[in-house]
Amino acid sequence: MGQASPINIGIDYSDEFLVGHPVIDREHRSLFEKSRAVLHAFLLNSPRPQIIEGMRELYTELQNHFTHEEAILDALDYPRLPEQREQHEAIMAKAARTLAHYEAQSMSFGDLYSFLFGQIVKGHFLKEDMLLKDFLATSHS
Ligand SMILES: [Fe+2]
Ligand SMILES: [Fe+2]
Repeated sequence: MGQASPINIGIDYSDEFLVGHPVIDREHRSLFEKSRAVLHAFLLNSPRPQIIEGMRELYTELQNHFTHEEAILDALDYPRLPEQREQHEAIMAKAARTLAHYEAQSMSFGDLYSFLFGQIVKGHFLKEDMLLKDFLATSHS
């Protein structure tokens, strides 16, 4: 989608997001910024096709990230890979429903915000993914 300037969404990207793996960290940052851009377009009442395009791109990028992350963790014999897979699957199912819901009608800013930043960023990147930090820092980096 087009260039969107940052908006204040009550959470900023910072070092607290870093888990210590360059690929995972780069992808988390990109997903964070793209989520913010979609919300920004939403707030500006951008044309629906533009928002849908942004949401579809985000969906694909999220799917690719989960695939990459699982491959990385699998290669490291990460013990919480099953929990990771389970959460990724649940998030993608919700993402598909969210996208279909928006395409069919609309949704509130609050619903989209709570999915992108409540469930994905705060609920997964800053929780389950953050458990990777110690694992990577101890013997696997
Ligand atoms: Fe992740
Ligand atoms: Fe993850």
